[in-house]
Amino acid sequence: MTANELRKKYLTFFEAHQHAVVPSAAMVPENDPSTLFTGSGMQPMVPYLLGEKHPKGTRITDSQKCFRSQDIEEVGDNRHTTFFEMLGNWSLGDYFKKEQLRWFFTFLTQEVGLKPEKLFVTVFSGNESLGIGRDDESVAIWKELFKEVGIEATVGEDSEKNGLQDDRIFFFDEKKNWWSRAGVPSNMPAGEPGGPDSEVFYDFGAEQKLHEMSEFKNMKCHVNCDCGRFLEIGNSVFMQYQKQADGSFKELSQKNVDFGGGFERILAVMTDSQDMFTTALFTPLISKIEEISGKKYSEKSDVTRSFRVIADHVRAATLLAADGVFPSNKEQGYFSRRLLRRAIRFGKMIGIEQPFLAELVTVISAVYAQPYPEVAKKSAAITQAFQTEEKKFQKALEKGLRELDKIKNIDGEVAFKLYETYGFPFELTQEIAVERGDVVSEEDFTQAKKVHADASRKASGEKFKGGLADHSEKTTQYHTATHLLHAALRKILGTHVQQKGSNITHERLRFDFSHTDALSQDEKQQVEDQVNTWISADLPVTVKTMGKKAALKSGAIAFFVEKYPNEVTVYTIGDDDHSGWISKEFCGGPHVSSTGEIGPVEIFKEQSASAGVRRVYLRSKA
Ligand code: ALA
Repeated sequence: MTANELRKKYLTFFEAHQHAVVPSAAMVPENDPSTLFTGSGMQPMVPYLLGEKHPKGTRITDSQKCFRSQDIEEVGDNRHTTFFEMLGNWSLGDYFKKEQLRWFFTFLTQEVGLKPEKLFVTVFSGNESLGIGRDDESVAIWKELFKEVGIEATVGEDSEKNGLQDDRIFFFDEKKNWWSRAGVPSNMPAGEPGGPDSEVFYDFGAEQKLHEMSEFKNMKCHVNCDCGRFLEIGNSVFMQYQKQADGSFKELSQKNVDFGGGFERILAVMTDSQDMFTTALFTPLISKIEEISGKKYSEKSDVTRSFRVIADHVRAATLLAADGVFPSNKEQGYFSRRLLRRAIRFGKMIGIEQPFLAELVTVISAVYAQPYPEVAKKSAAITQAFQTEEKKFQKALEKGLRELDKIKNIDGEVAFKLYETYGFPFELTQEIAVERGDVVSEEDFTQAKKVHADASRKASGEKFKGGLADHSEKTTQYHTATHLLHAALRKILGTHVQQKGSNITHERLRFDFSHTDALSQDEKQQVEDQVNTWISADLPVTVKTMGKKAALKSGAIAFFVEKYPNEVTVYTIGDDDHSGWISKEFCGGPHVSSTGEIGPVEIFKEQSASAGVRRVYLRSKA
């Protein structure tokens, strides 16, 4: 079965179960300031999980393009990639556990042809403090499903301590069997949906001795062990709860299923391969890199690692570019640049000195011609941008080398300066240092990087980890400032002003709103002064969960009223008890607890966004 066939098979299977097939959303989320990239199939589905009607009904299936920037450094082993496709099927208040687990099991065993004895599953063990019990219902369903294929599946408790024994179904707590965009329940902001999940693992087999050969050999092996014996291939999330402002969990108005299957992973286990990079999605790319470098993929472990980094990074950058993300110094573009520069650097390690990105783009557009034709359509623009980036990086490298020649003693500080100023890779600095008889360790470099991390914009890229988990202080401040700006614009320009979109980085906020004319100098000043007055008044910011109707009645404004479920969280700025509030908005948070935390701000740009929509940029005053 080819990759395209597997993807098609999955979608067709769920189509036969009355699901509407929808195309993948772009990897750059619209109107979601909390994250830079779509990192899971759920991202574009949030409004529908919360109760908004999906135009295609209550059963949806898709294959979503995802990018996880936090995995960049992990790439190089046999299973991590930054880009991946997540197979999804969705029940929006329609079917639940019984159908979901049966369908996925049937798909794996009958459509894909995996042997049932190779499959192991996990189930949520429950958590009293959350008021959410053990998922015995899923256990019963799994037992039945395995029984039908002649396997008596027994349940293991505490397998992290006891090991696998002879069990097949395992309980794990919320660290493993709970899913939300922000991770474990305690990390979730108010308003965020989440729920217990049930995961399916593929067993590469005890006879491979993967555990015995791994660094985990002194511990018991279990399905979530990192030794490599087991690979998670799919996760059925029973998305039925919403975190409340007081930290408790409440049932959503509808019970949903959010299923995510690792497309590449299923493709790999179909051939019993532990290496994602041997799947049909990667082999043409690996062959091309072999041809360009004259090296063989499995020649030596460090060569294999370089191949994987190159293949993953160029593939991700190409698919991102097809979604409009090109190399730059800012936001999403920063990641594209980082991916390409890492790919070039790892190319050098396997002896590729000449430009090579364009050749790989050609291969990648062919691999994705069927599911994602946007890649081939934009391949000329992508190739050109990548070639420009290759030249730029080459120049930076040359400059860095000249700089190095002038420096007497290479230490961590020097390595960091080169890295920061020219994007000069540490490993290269280290190699040159060794040639010159200097010593510079990775720790020295990391230490220098740490010292500069706060002051320097480009220091590490950690700042952009993305996702709701990254509520860095600054973006939270800007989030509250967005509400103040909205209120100030309405006060000064009029209540026709409505939010049309927003985007936040740790450096500034961008706010789009309905208004026809450009703001005069005076209007801009008034708005800025108003926001600063509210900030210096150090007004309290409070959150309440209430019915949508009551919320609207209390004067709360919503960005898209119809997008919200019946229960909403409302953030109020100012004194809520005495109608002394200045802003009340439907919002998932998070926010600072009082406006003084924001500090003085300034409007530094105002422009047109589209017809009838103006755009304002605001940032902290230096
Ligand atoms: N949203 C779930 C996940 O990403 C399916 O694992």
